[in-house]
Amino acid sequence: MLKKLALAATLALAPVSGAFAAGASGHVENYDFSFEGPFGTFDQAQLQRGLQVYTQVCSACHGMQYVPLRTLSAEDGPGMPEDQVRAYAEQFFEVYDDELDDFRPARPTDNFPANNAAGAPDLSMMAKARAGFHGPYGLGINQFFKGMGGPEYIASLLAGYTGEEKEEAGTILYENEAFPGGWISMGPPLYGDDVDFADGTEATIEQQSQDVAAFLMWAAEPKLMARKQAGFVGVVFLTVLSVLLYLTNKRLWAPVKARAKE
Ligand code: HEC
Repeated sequence: MLKKLALAATLALAPVSGAFAAGASGHVENYDFSFEGPFGTFDQAQLQRGLQVYTQVCSACHGMQYVPLRTLSAEDGPGMPEDQVRAYAEQFFEVYDDELDDFRPARPTDNFPANNAAGAPDLSMMAKARAGFHGPYGLGINQFFKGMGGPEYIASLLAGYTGEEKEEAGTILYENEAFPGGWISMGPPLYGDDVDFADGTEATIEQQSQDVAAFLMWAAEPKLMARKQAGFVGVVFLTVLSVLLYLTNKRLWAPVKARAKE
């Protein structure tokens, strides 16, 4: 009850327009994802679980039309064997073929299908299109310490339904603690045990939310691990170069300095 009152107060204070501006955002949990930090890497088992949640639940409404199916076999991604990717694409996805003028089972050379049933946005870039952390006062300090928070936002959104709903202009809106403004038109997609994980992980709402959020982060930034590695090599290289330049500089000026002392 108290929590609801507090939420109602926050909602009343939140400005209605500019919902994504600092201050109006809902509560976003700071989850510890494996791919965070300078040495973070994707957890392959988690990406595969996330793919399963996306396929069996989210893809009913959301497309992912900018992600090629063949990338599911990427070593630094879900790492599925190529024959498995082929079977997976065929079994679960259909794409529209211009030449056939009809739908056919998807192949690894296709992208995930587009879908915007009921106005659901494409999820290809969603993990980079949303920020979970803001401020304080527009300074972005929270983002410096916690990261942008795209996957945290998605995971919090999926686990953030309060169970309240209302009808507004013919649309049913669901109360959600993470959604800016507090009311979203997406009904709760997860109830727990929505999928059966092959690796035996228990499919709680929180688990599925975090797994699919991690998967969407990979979809939006498949080269995250390569980027971090290149950055690290760059820093090491520049450090060594700085030391060498310092020593060279010292050596070059040594005769001049020696003369100055005389
Ligand atoms: C029954 C259809 C449906 C299903 C299933 C569904 N969604 Fe949605 N989703 C929507 C609609 C509609 C919206 C637009 C909601 C709005 O803007 O009010 C949406 C919006 C979103 C957003 C964007 C929220 C924002 O900040 O604008 C995310 C992220 C999202 N869905 C993720 C998911 C994930 C992940 C799943 C699977 C676990 C999923 N959805 C399952 C219909 C669905």
